[in-house]
Amino acid sequence: MRRHLIAGNWKMNGTRASIGLLLSDFKQELEAATAAGRVSSDVEWAVFPPFVFLAECQHHLAETSIAWGAQTVSEHAYGAFTGETSAAMLKEFACQYVLVGHSERRQLFKESNKDVAKKFVAALHYDLKPILCVGETEIEREAGLSLHVIQAQIAAVLELDAQLPNFQNAVIAYEPVWAIGTGKNATPEQVQEVHAAIRAQLRVHRADLADQMRIIYGGSVKPENAKILLEMPDVDGALVGGASLQAKHFVEIGAACNH
Ligand code: 13P
Repeated sequence: MRRHLIAGNWKMNGTRASIGLLLSDFKQELEAATAAGRVSSDVEWAVFPPFVFLAECQHHLAETSIAWGAQTVSEHAYGAFTGETSAAMLKEFACQYVLVGHSERRQLFKESNKDVAKKFVAALHYDLKPILCVGETEIEREAGLSLHVIQAQIAAVLELDAQLPNFQNAVIAYEPVWAIGTGKNATPEQVQEVHAAIRAQLRVHRADLADQMRIIYGGSVKPENAKILLEMPDVDGALVGGASLQAKHFVEIGAACNH
């Protein structure tokens, strides 16, 4: 049985004051929704603030079951890499998770499949749970290349080190680039097709783990569309951008796991 994971990617948003407010609103909303039986305690929650607000998350969330993590990580352990942050540093802030290969990192910061794979391995080595983000652009989808692109993104990781002992801690997030921040979400059928193909690919490399690994969906997930997406058999949660900046909406998305 895979536990649903509802993750909020806050991207480069917020101030110290607004992040503090968002964290306390989120805790309150979640506590109330759980007490009212609207959100199951089986749902796992995680938030991804900008690096500089990780300490704020630790301060607000340490006594809760909500996890937090960073939006990227260096592939290197330490050294002369100006602007970078290592997995060991993230562990000092009690991060459990880290996003790797978000499409904004791939597109705007030119991270290649190989770069992303190295970050993924660095995270696992330091006992962080990487959330590997994959997804095709609109042009690639229209050209019928979606699965080809996604499978290459995953293959880069599997080829580098699929034998890592804690590989099952990793999560894969399917985020079609054309659905991110556009309001155009993929249909449940499109999402299920890709998630099933990802699980089949995992099975070839790690038959022992493929059924345990969580594959979550991201791209314009909102309270209104969460239920039909989360009902799909291979959709094990959501990676939420814009809607995660409003505590009420974010918690409503988790409430949609109750089916
Ligand atoms: P939106 O939910 O704003 O479309 O963002 C999705 C995303 O990029 C999460 O990582």
